[in-house]
Amino acid sequence: MKTTFLLNGETVRVDTDPTRTLLDWLRDERGLTGTKEGCNEGDCGACTVMVTDGDGAKALNACILFMPQLHGKAVRTVEGVSGPDGTLHPVQTAMVENHGSQCGFCTPGFVVSMAVGHANGQTDHDNMLAGNLCRCTGYAPIIRAAKAAENAAVPVWVKDKAPTVEAAPFAPETSDDLAAWYLAHPDGTLVAGATDVGLWVTKQFRELGDVAFLNRCTDLRGITQSGDTIRIGAMTTMTDVLAAMRDAHPSYAEMIRRYGSQQVRNAATIGGNIANGSPIGDNPPALIALGATLHLRCGDQRREMAIEDFFIDYGKQDRQRGEFVEAVTLPASAPTLRCYKISKRFDQDISAICGCFNLTVTKGIVTDACIAFGGMAGTPKRAAAVEAALVGNAWTIENAQAAMAKMGEDFTPLSDMRASADYRLTTAANLLQRYFHDLSGQDTSVLEVSA
Ligand SMILES: Cc1cc2nc3c(=O)[nH]c(=O)nc-3n(C[C@H](O)[C@H](O)[C@H](O)COP(=O)(O)OP(=O)(O)OC[C@H]3O[C@@H](n4cnc5c(N)ncnc54)[C@H](O)[C@@H]3O)c2cc1C
Ligand code: FES
Ligand code: FES
Repeated sequence: MKTTFLLNGETVRVDTDPTRTLLDWLRDERGLTGTKEGCNEGDCGACTVMVTDGDGAKALNACILFMPQLHGKAVRTVEGVSGPDGTLHPVQTAMVENHGSQCGFCTPGFVVSMAVGHANGQTDHDNMLAGNLCRCTGYAPIIRAAKAAENAAVPVWVKDKAPTVEAAPFAPETSDDLAAWYLAHPDGTLVAGATDVGLWVTKQFRELGDVAFLNRCTDLRGITQSGDTIRIGAMTTMTDVLAAMRDAHPSYAEMIRRYGSQQVRNAATIGGNIANGSPIGDNPPALIALGATLHLRCGDQRREMAIEDFFIDYGKQDRQRGEFVEAVTLPASAPTLRCYKISKRFDQDISAICGCFNLTVTKGIVTDACIAFGGMAGTPKRAAAVEAALVGNAWTIENAQAAMAKMGEDFTPLSDMRASADYRLTTAANLLQRYFHDLSGQDTSVLEVSA
């Protein structure tokens, strides 16, 4: 597939296999070996590159970024972070002065993430660098370096402008074009952010057949509010969902802050996270608890359903051949929504359990309850017996504890590397108790640890 983009300021036109990753191409074809391969699955940040488009500069993992996704964008690798005459970028100078590197393997990835954060005026360095792993220096000197560079001017050479390019057949520019393509290629693979699909290629060595890249479908992207409903286009990245949820649903936003890393959130889309049907995706339980509606499109036909009905069984969703996710709509306000992500690691970890609670309490009585979990069954699923035990009764700790005992009627979780079945069931029940205390105004946050 033919792709045109800027690489460290120079226009590049290439014709590659559609699933060639940027990481492999940079290292094998261009000799740009500063971009490192650590995990090859989006987890370590050693391959971080700066990608600029109309929305500005973002950090992305080159190991799960396919070449056609770069069409019309500007890429800057660590080799292009320093100036053309070798002048160090302020974050590089700060890394030297603050002893931010030992073996140096992770350093190019850190430097690129820091350069992107610096260009965007970002000062929440813990979040910014959560997707970059270092096994030897320790994070304190690196965070000190990021802080030290905060006020330095952004070097002109990193201010890229994305090039204007012709439309490409593999990258539909509108959802109408996508609908036509998918009807004609119902067995084809849609690639949104490639944070799942990338791993099919790099870890499972799968051949994808016909592929359509959705990232140029601008009408599938964006968040709008009309009255008391928020509509999120399928191609909206988790970074943009996080920003929009901060005001609308702060607890949901707090959960998304721990969704992958900044590099992953910059690529991953809400549509991909729903369509993949994963039982451990973080958006579905929150959206189910919110009573969200899913919007699907096949050719010119559109239909909608309560999002909980989309997840039929493990690996099975209510989606026809040639049908794609267009958007999800949700209420703009749900003051009692709380989302709790339980994972082994604070950042950049898939949930062992994700519990989302949304109760309506009127005059002390629970009049409505929507409670959904990820990680407890083969699909994201509501806790119907727990809900039934709560509705119609007073909202007291005793009644909440009585409802906790019903969790075993709703779920028979599995044991796997993330958690045992027993841990899952006990923790899910305890989350209801946490929710009770949370709604009572007690501080239940366990997120106090930061550098
Ligand atoms: C390092 C790492 C950390 C992660 N951490 C988390 C985490 O904390 N929480 C979490 O929930 N997930 C996590 N994930 C999983 C992943 O990020 C999500 O599932 C992601 O949202 C998928 O979206 P995408 O745009 O990348 O989808 P893609 O990988 O492009 O696609 C995923 C699937 O959805 C299909 N698809 C995509 N868009 C559409 C559409 N509009 N209509 C129909 N089908 C479509 C694709 O064909 C494919 O089958 C992580 C992944 C990685 C690599
Ligand atoms: S090599 Fe680890 S994130 Fe890309
Ligand atoms: S300096 Fe060795 S991995 Fe970070």
